[in-house]
Amino acid sequence: MTQISPNAGSPAGLSFFEDMHPPAADFRADILAGLSKPQKALPPKYYYDEEGSRLFDAITEQPEYYVTGTELELLKSVGGDLRALAGKGALVLEPGAGSSVKIRTLLDALDAPSGYVGMDISGDHVRSACEALAADYPGLEVGALCHDFTQSLDIDALPLSDATRAGRRIVFFPGSTIGNFELIDALGLLKTLRGWLRAGDALLIGTDMRKAASTLEAAYDDAAGVTAAFNLNLVARINRELDGTLDPDALEYRAFWNPYRSRVEMYLVALHDMAFEVAGQRFMIRQNETIHMENSHKFTVDTFADLAAKAGLERRKSWVSDGEAFSMHWLEPAAKAC
Ligand code: AVJ
Repeated sequence: MTQISPNAGSPAGLSFFEDMHPPAADFRADILAGLSKPQKALPPKYYYDEEGSRLFDAITEQPEYYVTGTELELLKSVGGDLRALAGKGALVLEPGAGSSVKIRTLLDALDAPSGYVGMDISGDHVRSACEALAADYPGLEVGALCHDFTQSLDIDALPLSDATRAGRRIVFFPGSTIGNFELIDALGLLKTLRGWLRAGDALLIGTDMRKAASTLEAAYDDAAGVTAAFNLNLVARINRELDGTLDPDALEYRAFWNPYRSRVEMYLVALHDMAFEVAGQRFMIRQNETIHMENSHKFTVDTFADLAAKAGLERRKSWVSDGEAFSMHWLEPAAKAC
């Protein structure tokens, strides 16, 4: 990992900001690889450029997208439990931090948290979000990392004060982001996050739950077309950054609930045959052929606890929203078998 230097005295009040952005070549290679598969696919981590992050925030405000609002309500209602579980002076680490109000709800619930480190693939987004947080929480040591959380990170190397470093680590991973990964990758990510924790530290994670197909499909294809625009924005990004010629007007967005794999699957469907280029490579897409954009896995409390256990994380407590729409889990590193 790159050397991180403290940025003490920065006017915005951040303790540090470090850009660990993956090189641009990754974007090009990943997009070309995805378009070369028999089932074309685009990796969802590239949704979140500046416009994509803005569109995602807009999704969370759509009436059909219950996910964000339900999780926030749940988080608010369990504040007392979280305060008791976390204890005093906790250090909160948030991979995939946005301009979310959830982190404020968590910080407000906790007993004098000592520090917060936000990490996001969009550097501008995380930096401004963390600056705003630092301004609103003067006693809190706040750092920001532009980082891809699927890549390794040495928490001990972060330039935090000794007092903050000594606090119980709480890795906060809300939003059911874990659901966007194939199960095998979700397991890998849980193992990565498990690796950030010492005995007594915790992972506080939100997972969306299985429910009626009609509810799920509406949530992922809102009437105002914001989710469609969010998906087409990745096509626009490819065209802009990789000299692409894929016509967004000839692609239609669709979302399906797949009960066998317990996930919502999102696609762009070609309205007619098209030849196109990306980064100098030629591709062909047929009428009705799909580009697989994203999956959003849905869990029960038990299916998620089983997955977490495989990653060496033991469930201390779960909370389920009214109507069993969304759940949150407090997981701790399982004692090593000897
Ligand atoms: C990234 C998990 C928050 O799957 O619900 C929302 C992404 N994509 N609508 C989800 C998403 C389309 C979202 N999360």
